Amino acid sequence: MLEINHVSVKFSADSDVQAVEDVSFVLPEGSKLALVGETGSGKSVLLLAILRLLPETAQTRGDVLLDGKSIWQMKRKELDKIRGAVISYVPQGGGEALNPLMRVGFQVGEPLMEHKGLSRKEAEAKSVSLLKRFHLGDEEALARAYPHTFSGGMRQRAMVAMGIAADPQIVLADEPSKGLDEKRVALVAETFQQLGEKSLLCVTHDLLFAGKISDHICVLYAAQQVEYGPTEKLMSAPLHPYTRDMLRAIPENGMEVDKAGFAPAHTGYENFGCRYRHRCKDCMEVCKKMPPLFTVGDEKVRCWLYADASGTADKDL
Ligand SMILES: Nc1ncnc2c1ncn2[C@@H]1O[C@H](COP(=O)(O)OP(=O)(O)O)[C@@H](O)[C@H]1O
Ligand code: SF4
Ligand SMILES: [Mg+2]
Repeated sequence: MLEINHVSVKFSADSDVQAVEDVSFVLPEGSKLALVGETGSGKSVLLLAILRLLPETAQTRGDVLLDGKSIWQMKRKELDKIRGAVISYVPQGGGEALNPLMRVGFQVGEPLMEHKGLSRKEAEAKSVSLLKRFHLGDEEALARAYPHTFSGGMRQRAMVAMGIAADPQIVLADEPSKGLDEKRVALVAETFQQLGEKSLLCVTHDLLFAGKISDHICVLYAAQQVEYGPTEKLMSAPLHPYTRDMLRAIPENGMEVDKAGFAPAHTGYENFGCRYRHRCKDCMEVCKKMPPLFTVGDEKVRCWLYADASGTADKDL
């Protein structure tokens, strides 16, 4: 089980950027959580923070626990043992993370040599079968090829294959479907649906993809959690005005994507109140005050519209 406890991340190199603010949720064994939100909302930073992959300019608060043990307090050696073996990470723009000087099959199979004790030959054979799950074409030949011969989408899928290679308990994936056509997105979704007992924490800006791969969704807006709930409920009856607007903006729902929208800034929010209020059609006087996370049944929502429905307001999920 992975617990994200009141995690905040601030970058203070040039100007202060509050990238993630007091985010908490739990990823029980076998659960699949999608982290959604527009560009700049803090999704990638949160994922990087979990495995302590942030640059040194980042200041973090809170804690991340793996089965009750703090990942943030772990010694480097212990952390190296869990990275890739227990928790794998598929980075955003995954293709670029491949080493251009090494054959793809070797790289995809590397976690198996490192964490499962397989020989190079065994690992490379396994990497072919992993690549086959993503229908890349002639996988035997592709495993022997170098990354530059792959298209961006192929490299992306090779990275997802690498992420699941060593059979980790938890897969962290950052925008694994970005830039792929519909057919390839379906293949990535299918692979994640087959993770079974494994847990998945998947960052995506694509709500439809999130709906296919997750049992719960956490929505981030301007570094804060604004909604959290079971996927079906959140997709069919979203509570937060931002989630509603996002769903409405999906072209399939017959609406144009909101081109008037702006990427949320991460500074100047002190005493701003609800961060969505400039875009919100339901904005009220009280929205000049920051809403807490209200509990509504098995959902959480940061919006004053639910102050009466909830009766409770807390910051924990
Ligand atoms: N290394 C960094 N230094 C300074 N600011 C950063 C750094 N990485 C991310 N940020 C800022 O943190 C915020 C959240 O970024 P990110 O998590 O990448 O958003 P996204 O939701 O698109 O993945 C953005 O304002 C971004 O500019
Ligand atoms: S708190 Fe107010 S401004 Fe913010 S989302 Fe809710 S109704 Fe809209
Ligand atoms: Mg990102």
